Amino acid sequence: MIFNENHKVPCPQAAIKACSALVNDWDLLHNSAKENRLDYWAHLAQTKLDWHTPFQTILDWKPPHAKWFLEGTLNASVQCLDANIAKGIGDKTALVWRGEPTDTDENGERRTFTYSELHSAVCDFSSGLLNIGIEAGDRVIIYLPLVPEALIAMLACARIGAVHSVVFAGFSSESLKDRSLNCGAKCIITADFGFRRSKRIELLKSVESIRTQLPEDLKVVVLQRENFEWTVLNSRANFLPNHISLEINYFKSEHPLFLLYTSGTTGKPKGLMHTTAGYMLWAKTSFEWVFGQEKNDIFWCTADVGWITGHTYLTYGPLSNGATVFLYEGAPDYPDFGRFWRMIEKEKITILYTAPTAIRAFMKQSEVWIDNADLSSLRLLGSVGEPINPEAWQWYFDKIGGGHCPVVDTWWQTETGGVVMCPTPQREQMKPGCAMSAMPGFEVDIVDASGTSVSLGEQGNLVIKSPWPSQARTVFGDPDRYVQTYWSQFHELNNPQKPWYFTGDGAYRDKNGHIWIIGRIDDVLNVAGHRIGTMEIESAMGEHDLVAESAVVGVPDPIKGTAIYAYVLVKNCSLEKVSAKTAQETFFTELRALAALQIGSFAKPDHIKIMDALPKTRSGKIMRRLLRDLASGNTILGDVSTLEDISVLSSLQKYQED
Ligand code: WT7
Repeated sequence: MIFNENHKVPCPQAAIKACSALVNDWDLLHNSAKENRLDYWAHLAQTKLDWHTPFQTILDWKPPHAKWFLEGTLNASVQCLDANIAKGIGDKTALVWRGEPTDTDENGERRTFTYSELHSAVCDFSSGLLNIGIEAGDRVIIYLPLVPEALIAMLACARIGAVHSVVFAGFSSESLKDRSLNCGAKCIITADFGFRRSKRIELLKSVESIRTQLPEDLKVVVLQRENFEWTVLNSRANFLPNHISLEINYFKSEHPLFLLYTSGTTGKPKGLMHTTAGYMLWAKTSFEWVFGQEKNDIFWCTADVGWITGHTYLTYGPLSNGATVFLYEGAPDYPDFGRFWRMIEKEKITILYTAPTAIRAFMKQSEVWIDNADLSSLRLLGSVGEPINPEAWQWYFDKIGGGHCPVVDTWWQTETGGVVMCPTPQREQMKPGCAMSAMPGFEVDIVDASGTSVSLGEQGNLVIKSPWPSQARTVFGDPDRYVQTYWSQFHELNNPQKPWYFTGDGAYRDKNGHIWIIGRIDDVLNVAGHRIGTMEIESAMGEHDLVAESAVVGVPDPIKGTAIYAYVLVKNCSLEKVSAKTAQETFFTELRALAALQIGSFAKPDHIKIMDALPKTRSGKIMRRLLRDLASGNTILGDVSTLEDISVLSSLQKYQED
């Protein structure tokens, strides 16, 4: 099945009632944003957020630097906790958590927190942080498994104005070290270990292995995974005093809320900075609009807190809406492929938000896993992270949703803070694989290299033409990179003073004007929903003694979406060292180990090939496009006029015939 703009699926009857904003007010919202974008955002900010001090200035826009809702003060943690308690839902369940250890065991781990309980855990944790000397503005790294304490730590940082930076527990100690040093972290919050397919992931050992390379006064706070108690290494401070009621401090709208590192086109990940009011506004509002929350919903977003999805739709979005969030610590296939479906049945989950790669992995398994569970509690399905292929969409809709749940395919990025495009199934028929259109307030367009909007059906670059409240404000410690990466490629015609935000994605509009995402058009890969820069893998492999140079490209993969293909040039003097088959295999294993060490296991190349030359332009840039053709078995086509050495082409073709 290919992407087909004529294939339309009506919203299932049972789901028609949903969220009034989606149904009744959508056109009004779009119109009011079009008439006066700033007033639209200001009105939302006034009505959706609880301000301690009201804001005066809607936007201070000195392109490309935006400051929103100036003079206002608020607290993101209060917005997620105290505000709900004040509304009278303190006894409502905020979190339901299941540990990985097997669900078939009666004693399987399950913990719940009401809003009041979460509030008191967060207050205790905040006073712990204050006790060890963490202050507003300090950076705190969170390197934890997916346990409630990860959310508690985030909300506790936010409560005292400390800036959290969550590092996914699948990242290696080297990645953790780079991020800690880059942001000047004062504290790392970790656990003695985490579980992955019942294996212990030794998080504390990772931290200890880099400890001497980090500042001496860095605090390390450790969660005991078995009993969920906290200790502080090298400190006498009593970390968790009992229920100290803290005076609440409120922070300016532009106070940094968190940093989140993500991959770009260089070897070095960038720490994107999100600030308080603008981010919270869109986390709260987009959650409400995309998922059309109902009172008894139990919302499960399968992302880890280490990614932006885990920030916006596992933590800040649902909690600021007083929703009940379900959290699962482990792997989808542990102890077997029935795990997800049994949990949906037992916990009566109503909304499932997951990634196409997970859907495709389940599709390959026996359907018995699904048929054995009662999934009738589900009412809405979401997809995020990469384009969802129509087969996966249809399977998700039929098998998981039983044909009665709409599917919302949400397009967004770490940089956008929240969903920018999604279908509104109650208003318009769904088109499998299509992100449809921008949400009210977002001025999305598709333009050619000159910045002219492309015609319907034509591919181009996806841009956002005006600032929005939840946009990342800068790259921490590297403001030039922020400007260069996002705001220097496209601008209003003949007016470089009015830059546009470039997403890095390619897209086109179909004949109805609906937007289809093609995927990244820069050197960033999306592997099983993980974003990895090709240069990051290349520089990891470059650490190997035998490697002269390498080039990494992505090739289509039926489950992961993209698989990693590495082309390696071995130093001349070392060629004989890898000529024997076993030596070559050892070499490849070492290269994979380097990627795992420098980045994380998910960055290991799936395929490696030794080359005698890499195709380069005269300016020395590797022509990955040609390697992509080679890797995916396509004829090497297209413009090769910029190739420095045309003879490389024939050697590439020779490889293809091999
Ligand atoms: C990139 C952003 C957004 C949270 C998870 C990933 C791709 C994301 C979709 C979608 C097609 C998508 C884009 C984007 N992407 N959602 N629904 N359809 N592509 O966040 O790691 O910042 O990656 O993911 O290529 O640029 P991220």
